[in-house]
Amino acid sequence: MDAMSDPAAARRGYLRGQLDEAIVSSTWLEHLQLWYADAAADPAVVEANAMQVATVDAAGHPSVRTVLLKGFDDRGVVFYTNYESAKARDLEANPYAAAVLVWLSQERQVRLSGPVTRLERAETEAYFDSRPRGSQLSAWASPQSTVVPSRAVLEDAAQAVEQRFAGSDVPAPPNWGGYRVTPEVVEFWQGRADRLHDRIRYRLDGDSWVIERLAP
Ligand SMILES: Cc1cc2nc3c(=O)[nH]c(=O)nc-3n(C[C@H](O)[C@H](O)[C@H](O)COP(=O)(O)O)c2cc1C
Repeated sequence: MDAMSDPAAARRGYLRGQLDEAIVSSTWLEHLQLWYADAAADPAVVEANAMQVATVDAAGHPSVRTVLLKGFDDRGVVFYTNYESAKARDLEANPYAAAVLVWLSQERQVRLSGPVTRLERAETEAYFDSRPRGSQLSAWASPQSTVVPSRAVLEDAAQAVEQRFAGSDVPAPPNWGGYRVTPEVVEFWQGRADRLHDRIRYRLDGDSWVIERLAP
Protein backbone atom coordinates (compact mmCIF):
# COMPACT_ATOMS: atom_id res chain seq x y z
CA MET A 1 0.00 0.00 0.00
CA ASP A 2 1.48 3.37 -0.92
CA ALA A 3 1.68 6.20 1.59
CA MET A 4 -1.29 7.98 -0.03
CA SER A 5 -3.72 5.10 0.42
CA ASP A 6 -2.41 3.73 3.71
CA PRO A 7 -4.62 5.10 6.49
CA ALA A 8 -1.88 4.37 9.04
CA ALA A 9 0.32 6.92 7.25
CA ALA A 10 -2.33 9.67 7.20
CA ARG A 11 -1.35 12.21 9.82
CA ARG A 12 -2.66 15.76 10.04
CA GLY A 13 -2.06 18.13 12.88
CA TYR A 14 -5.11 19.92 14.30
CA LEU A 15 -4.26 23.54 14.90
CA ARG A 16 -7.34 25.61 14.09
CA GLY A 17 -8.90 26.30 17.42
CA GLN A 18 -9.28 25.65 21.09
CA LEU A 19 -12.03 25.13 23.59
CA ASP A 20 -11.86 26.17 27.19
CA GLU A 21 -14.36 25.37 29.93
CA ALA A 22 -13.79 28.91 31.27
CA ILE A 23 -15.16 30.51 28.10
CA VAL A 24 -17.56 28.02 26.53
CA SER A 25 -21.18 29.08 26.23
CA SER A 26 -23.29 28.56 29.32
CA THR A 27 -25.63 26.16 27.49
CA TRP A 28 -25.01 23.39 24.96
CA LEU A 29 -27.57 25.05 22.71
CA GLU A 30 -25.68 28.33 22.50
CA HIS A 31 -22.45 26.49 21.82
CA LEU A 32 -24.04 24.38 19.12
CA GLN A 33 -25.49 27.54 17.56
CA LEU A 34 -22.00 29.08 17.44
CA TRP A 35 -20.34 26.02 15.99
CA TYR A 36 -23.16 25.33 13.56
CA ALA A 37 -22.93 28.89 12.25
CA ASP A 38 -19.15 28.51 11.82
CA ALA A 39 -19.62 25.24 9.92
CA ALA A 40 -22.39 26.60 7.73
CA ALA A 41 -20.25 29.63 6.82
CA ASP A 42 -17.19 27.50 5.95
CA PRO A 43 -17.08 26.77 2.21
CA ALA A 44 -14.93 23.71 2.97
CA VAL A 45 -17.83 22.11 4.87
CA VAL A 46 -20.17 20.16 2.60
CA GLU A 47 -23.62 19.65 4.20
CA ALA A 48 -22.98 21.25 7.59
CA ASN A 49 -26.21 19.60 8.70
CA ALA A 50 -25.17 16.01 7.93
CA MET A 51 -25.52 14.10 11.19
CA GLN A 52 -24.94 10.44 11.97
CA VAL A 53 -27.61 8.90 14.18
CA ALA A 54 -27.09 5.61 15.98
CA THR A 55 -29.97 3.46 17.19
CA VAL A 56 -30.19 0.07 18.87
CA ASP A 57 -32.55 -2.74 17.88
CA ALA A 58 -34.52 -5.04 20.17
CA ALA A 59 -31.60 -7.52 20.24
CA GLY A 60 -29.22 -4.77 21.39
CA HIS A 61 -27.47 -4.44 18.03
CA PRO A 62 -26.52 -0.87 17.03
CA SER A 63 -26.94 0.72 13.58
CA VAL A 64 -25.75 4.08 12.40
CA ARG A 65 -26.65 6.15 9.37
CA THR A 66 -26.44 9.72 8.12
CA VAL A 67 -29.51 11.94 8.21
CA LEU A 68 -29.93 15.68 7.82
CA LEU A 69 -30.31 17.81 10.91
CA LYS A 70 -33.36 19.97 10.22
CA GLY A 71 -33.60 22.04 13.36
CA PHE A 72 -32.42 22.37 16.91
CA ASP A 73 -33.52 24.26 19.98
CA ASP A 74 -33.53 23.70 23.72
CA ARG A 75 -35.80 20.65 23.22
CA GLY A 76 -33.18 18.91 21.10
CA VAL A 77 -32.19 18.11 17.52
CA VAL A 78 -34.67 17.18 14.79
CA PHE A 79 -34.42 14.94 11.73
CA TYR A 80 -37.03 13.52 9.36
CA THR A 81 -37.42 10.00 8.10
CA ASN A 82 -39.77 7.14 7.34
CA TYR A 83 -41.65 5.88 10.41
CA GLU A 84 -41.50 2.31 9.00
CA SER A 85 -37.74 2.34 8.33
CA ALA A 86 -35.21 0.18 10.13
CA LYS A 87 -34.23 3.11 12.33
CA ALA A 88 -37.87 3.72 13.22
CA ARG A 89 -38.25 0.08 14.25
CA ASP A 90 -35.15 0.44 16.41
CA LEU A 91 -36.57 3.58 17.99
CA GLU A 92 -39.83 1.79 18.80
CA ALA A 93 -37.84 -0.90 20.64
CA ASN A 94 -35.34 1.57 22.17
CA PRO A 95 -36.46 5.20 22.05
CA TYR A 96 -32.94 6.50 22.62
CA ALA A 97 -30.31 7.63 20.13
CA ALA A 98 -26.77 8.92 19.87
CA ALA A 99 -25.80 11.42 17.18
CA VAL A 100 -22.62 12.94 15.90
CA LEU A 101 -21.89 15.93 13.68
CA VAL A 102 -18.33 16.20 12.37
CA TRP A 103 -16.92 19.24 10.56
CA LEU A 104 -13.46 18.05 9.55
CA SER A 105 -12.28 21.33 8.05
CA GLN A 106 -13.15 22.95 11.36
CA GLU A 107 -11.44 20.12 13.28
CA ARG A 108 -14.63 19.85 15.30
CA GLN A 109 -17.04 17.15 16.38
CA VAL A 110 -20.25 17.37 18.40
CA ARG A 111 -21.72 14.25 20.01
CA LEU A 112 -25.02 14.00 21.81
CA SER A 113 -27.36 11.36 23.11
CA GLY A 114 -30.74 11.15 24.74
CA PRO A 115 -34.33 9.99 24.49
CA VAL A 116 -36.13 10.27 21.17
CA THR A 117 -39.72 11.33 20.53
CA ARG A 118 -41.80 11.84 17.40
CA LEU A 119 -42.53 15.42 16.45
CA GLU A 120 -46.04 16.76 16.76
CA ARG A 121 -47.87 16.05 13.49
CA ALA A 122 -48.34 19.78 12.80
CA GLU A 123 -44.58 20.33 12.97
CA THR A 124 -43.90 17.45 10.57
CA GLU A 125 -46.55 18.75 8.18
CA ALA A 126 -45.17 22.29 8.24
CA TYR A 127 -41.72 20.99 7.35
CA PHE A 128 -43.04 18.57 4.71
CA ASP A 129 -44.92 21.43 3.02
CA SER A 130 -41.61 23.31 2.68
CA ARG A 131 -39.88 20.46 0.82
CA PRO A 132 -39.46 20.41 -2.97
CA ARG A 133 -42.27 18.53 -4.70
CA GLY A 134 -39.89 15.83 -5.99
CA SER A 135 -38.79 15.01 -2.44
CA GLN A 136 -42.40 14.99 -1.29
CA LEU A 137 -43.34 12.48 -3.99
CA SER A 138 -40.35 10.24 -3.23
CA ALA A 139 -41.36 10.10 0.42
CA TRP A 140 -44.63 8.48 -0.74
CA ALA A 141 -42.92 6.21 -3.27
CA SER A 142 -40.13 4.74 -1.14
CA PRO A 143 -40.80 1.97 1.41
CA GLN A 144 -37.56 2.89 3.14
CA SER A 145 -35.29 0.07 4.32
CA THR A 146 -37.26 -2.69 2.54
CA VAL A 147 -35.75 -4.87 -0.20
CA VAL A 148 -36.89 -3.79 -3.67
CA PRO A 149 -36.46 -5.96 -6.77
CA SER A 150 -35.06 -3.17 -8.96
CA ARG A 151 -34.68 0.56 -9.43
CA ALA A 152 -37.39 0.36 -12.09
CA VAL A 153 -39.90 -0.68 -9.42
CA LEU A 154 -39.08 2.46 -7.44
CA GLU A 155 -39.33 4.68 -10.51
CA ASP A 156 -42.70 3.15 -11.39
CA ALA A 157 -43.88 3.81 -7.84
CA ALA A 158 -42.70 7.43 -8.11
CA GLN A 159 -44.63 7.84 -11.37
CA ALA A 160 -47.78 6.36 -9.88
CA VAL A 161 -47.53 8.78 -6.97
CA GLU A 162 -47.02 11.68 -9.36
CA GLN A 163 -50.25 10.73 -11.16
CA ARG A 164 -52.11 10.29 -7.91
CA PHE A 165 -51.27 13.81 -6.76
CA ALA A 166 -51.31 15.48 -10.20
CA GLY A 167 -52.61 19.02 -9.91
CA SER A 168 -52.75 19.01 -6.13
CA ASP A 169 -50.48 19.57 -3.16
CA VAL A 170 -48.69 16.53 -1.81
CA PRO A 171 -49.61 15.87 1.83
CA ALA A 172 -47.11 14.33 4.27
CA PRO A 173 -47.36 10.54 4.12
CA PRO A 174 -48.73 9.13 7.38
CA ASN A 175 -45.62 6.95 7.70
CA TRP A 176 -43.20 9.86 7.38
CA GLY A 177 -42.19 12.43 9.96
CA GLY A 178 -39.73 13.92 12.36
CA TYR A 179 -37.94 12.72 15.42
CA ARG A 180 -36.41 14.82 18.13
CA VAL A 181 -33.39 13.64 20.14
CA THR A 182 -33.48 15.47 23.47
CA PRO A 183 -29.90 15.41 24.69
CA GLU A 184 -28.84 14.41 28.15
CA VAL A 185 -25.20 14.71 27.16
CA VAL A 186 -23.59 16.96 24.54
CA GLU A 187 -19.85 16.87 23.91
CA PHE A 188 -17.88 19.41 21.90
CA TRP A 189 -14.49 18.25 20.57
CA GLN A 190 -11.89 20.58 19.15
CA GLY A 191 -8.75 19.09 17.62
CA ARG A 192 -5.48 20.34 19.12
CA ALA A 193 -1.77 19.92 18.47
CA ASP A 194 -0.11 16.60 19.28
CA ARG A 195 -3.52 14.91 19.75
CA LEU A 196 -3.99 16.69 23.09
CA HIS A 197 -7.48 17.66 22.01
CA ASP A 198 -10.09 19.68 23.90
CA ARG A 199 -13.29 17.92 24.95
CA ILE A 200 -15.97 19.82 26.82
CA ARG A 201 -19.07 17.94 27.90
CA TYR A 202 -22.44 19.33 29.00
CA ARG A 203 -24.14 16.66 31.10
CA LEU A 204 -27.63 16.81 32.53
CA ASP A 205 -27.49 16.08 36.27
CA GLY A 206 -31.02 16.12 37.66
CA ASP A 207 -32.37 19.51 36.59
CA SER A 208 -29.08 21.24 35.95
CA TRP A 209 -26.30 20.96 33.43
CA VAL A 210 -22.73 20.21 34.49
CA ILE A 211 -19.92 21.42 32.22
CA GLU A 212 -16.74 19.39 32.46
CA ARG A 213 -13.55 18.64 30.55
CA LEU A 214 -12.79 15.13 29.36
CA ALA A 215 -9.38 13.73 28.61
CA PRO A 216 -8.86 13.35 24.88
C1 LIG B 1 -25.92 13.05 3.24
C2 LIG B 1 -27.04 12.10 3.58
C3 LIG B 1 -28.24 12.62 4.07
C4 LIG B 1 -29.30 11.77 4.39
N1 LIG B 1 -30.42 12.30 4.96
C5 LIG B 1 -31.42 11.49 5.34
C6 LIG B 1 -32.54 12.00 6.06
O1 LIG B 1 -32.63 13.20 6.38
N2 LIG B 1 -33.53 11.13 6.41
C7 LIG B 1 -33.45 9.80 6.10
O2 LIG B 1 -34.39 9.07 6.44
N3 LIG B 1 -32.40 9.27 5.47
C8 LIG B 1 -31.37 10.08 5.09
N4 LIG B 1 -30.27 9.55 4.46
C9 LIG B 1 -30.25 8.09 4.18
C10 LIG B 1 -29.87 7.33 5.44
O3 LIG B 1 -28.48 7.40 5.66
C11 LIG B 1 -30.32 5.85 5.38
O4 LIG B 1 -29.82 5.24 4.21
C12 LIG B 1 -31.84 5.70 5.41
O5 LIG B 1 -32.45 6.62 6.30
C13 LIG B 1 -32.24 4.28 5.81
O6 LIG B 1 -31.73 4.00 7.09
P1 LIG B 1 -32.30 2.80 7.99
O7 LIG B 1 -32.50 1.64 7.03
O8 LIG B 1 -31.24 2.54 9.01
O9 LIG B 1 -33.60 3.25 8.59
C14 LIG B 1 -29.18 10.38 4.16
C15 LIG B 1 -27.97 9.86 3.67
C16 LIG B 1 -26.92 10.71 3.41
C17 LIG B 1 -25.61 10.12 2.94
